Amino acid sequence: MFITLDGVDGSGKSSIARALHDYMETHHPETVTRLTREPGGVGTHIGEQLRNIVLDTHGLLPETQLFLFTASRLEHCHKFILPALLAGHTVICDRFSASTFVYQFLDSKISLYLYNNSTAAVRELFTRYGLRPYPDLQLILDVDYDTAHSRIASRLGQKPNAFDVMSKATFDLRRAGYLAYASSALNCNSVVIDSAHPPQSVLQACITVIEEHLGKHNENQLR
Ligand code: TYD
Repeated sequence: MFITLDGVDGSGKSSIARALHDYMETHHPETVTRLTREPGGVGTHIGEQLRNIVLDTHGLLPETQLFLFTASRLEHCHKFILPALLAGHTVICDRFSASTFVYQFLDSKISLYLYNNSTAAVRELFTRYGLRPYPDLQLILDVDYDTAHSRIASRLGQKPNAFDVMSKATFDLRRAGYLAYASSALNCNSVVIDSAHPPQSVLQACITVIEEHLGKHNENQLR
């Protein structure tokens, strides 16, 4: 089963991804659970190099950025995610396609044509391996600006950071983007989780959704 976690900065997705990995290892020892992230990702020898390249996109054409993120994702899927899924493992990925929708398509105003084609390239790779849908479950962590801002401030102390320079308008646009992504028919396997609650409650909400999907997933495998 392939589970992705996405959401605005300060939604807590990276901590929740780690906690979900621990939960799966403890409560589902029958399946190996692998934790990875994008951009980059574990298991590819050029993963970290690609990560450094795509995170330093300042001054690059938005289209160049889209292709770099897509290239990074294709390698990540080919070298790590797909082999793990074919081996019957569960993969949890911190950020995946929803980020491309929000950061490249909405923020950078990439055309729908190019965005759709980049998505199609990744879908096609999954189909080539006989795996669909992609991903099985997309958890979108949703939080308001004030909660996200205070979380990031407490995490980083009072040092100025990228979040401080992001306006509330940008935050709200990205937040709305994630919600729009989740509500699209193409992404009907998305579930929005209210992430303004304490971490333990958010984790529990994610676990409930995952357990429900695991049940359905295992039923489908048996058919
Ligand atoms: P990262 O340092 O991993 O931070 P975070 O803890 O927020 O995940 O930064 C990832 C950055 O990459 C983040 O600004 C979003 C961006 N990104 C895209 O623009 N497109 C994508 O497809 C992905 C996966 C990430």
